[in-house]
Amino acid sequence: MNYEKFMLQAITNANSFKYTAKPNPVVGAILLKDKKIISEGYHERFGENHAEINALEEAKKQIGKTFKDFSELTLICTLEPCSHQGKTGSCAKEIVKTGIKNIVIGSEDPNPKVAGKGIEILKKNKLKVTTGILENLVEKQNKFFFFKHKNNKPYITLKIARSVDGKSHYKNNERTFITNKSSRTDVQTIRACHDAILTGGNTLRYDNPRMNARVNFPCNQPRKILLTSKSYDEKLHFFKDAHVDVFHTKNLQKIISSYVPSDICSILVEAGPKLANAFLKANYVDELIIFTSKKKLGENGINWFSEVNAVENYGFKLESSYKIDTDLKEIFTK
Ligand SMILES: NC(=O)c1ccc[n+]([C@@H]2O[C@H](COP(=O)([O-])OP(=O)(O)OC[C@H]3O[C@@H](n4cnc5c(N)ncnc54)[C@H](OP(=O)(O)O)[C@@H]3O)[C@@H](O)[C@H]2O)c1
Repeated sequence: MNYEKFMLQAITNANSFKYTAKPNPVVGAILLKDKKIISEGYHERFGENHAEINALEEAKKQIGKTFKDFSELTLICTLEPCSHQGKTGSCAKEIVKTGIKNIVIGSEDPNPKVAGKGIEILKKNKLKVTTGILENLVEKQNKFFFFKHKNNKPYITLKIARSVDGKSHYKNNERTFITNKSSRTDVQTIRACHDAILTGGNTLRYDNPRMNARVNFPCNQPRKILLTSKSYDEKLHFFKDAHVDVFHTKNLQKIISSYVPSDICSILVEAGPKLANAFLKANYVDELIIFTSKKKLGENGINWFSEVNAVENYGFKLESSYKIDTDLKEIFTK
């Protein structure tokens, strides 16, 4: 049978839960009897049932109605079922228990806790396992999750807003909105996509930013990370909405490494030129997003970079660019 059509449906529908499943990957599962869909399940919320379990539970209600027993069914699953006992039980073991004989998987799970072990459980129990169906789409859909486990570090995005003359803010540190309202709305979605938002002591003190994701859809708020050597006022907006990890060290490698064992797969850096350039110089930025407005800050503005070709010199290439009303949004990768 051509399973691609059903795999695409599972991938597409799973995407609805992108903001509530994170930092977990989005996963979809479909149970088929021949070419007929018996049930669908998705990993809807972090900490709750995995997609396969939701699809199995839904199908159980139909035993004796649309099918007799699970051995008649095929399970389509976008990501390899987990082998380990995490917040929920092992999905691979639950699948085996039902008596399903045929399973079709989009991609292997890159998480070393699983990485083939789920498939091994299925094969050991004599299930027929087919893998690699629309694998690239599954990986693309879970870009941060795959990156983290393949590279053993979280994906780091640096977002900056600059004036047309390349400035970040005024010398007197007065809070300034550089970009237009539509760009600022776009930034809310960028925040919603990430697992954590990181800033530095000066931005915290001068701007008192909230740095949460103010979006009109359900979203797990990003965790927050503050880098400062100084004491700080916990009544500041930054400490609302989500847990804040505070680091007093300036050793960025140490800070980033501390997230490897955690479930954080992506970090959005929103800081001023000092911390932004520290990340860039150390080669820790995987994606750079620049919003450029038509506004000029002039001589009283602080430059983002000391060189004209800094972005290229840091090794970035333009991947895409968009007009957002009067602003320009550019995405650079290496
Ligand atoms: N246009 C934009 O997109 C944008 C975005 C964010 C902020 N800003 C502006 O940026 C201004 C502040 O910029 P800034 O460059 O002075 O400060 P910053 O980059 O926001 O923060 C620098 C601070 O981060 C801490 N830090 C910890 N580890 C560090 C490291 N390895 N390297 C550098 N800093 C480290 C230190 O805090 P301690 O001094 O507390 O130890 C340091 O003073 C604000 O006025 C804000 O308005 C602009």
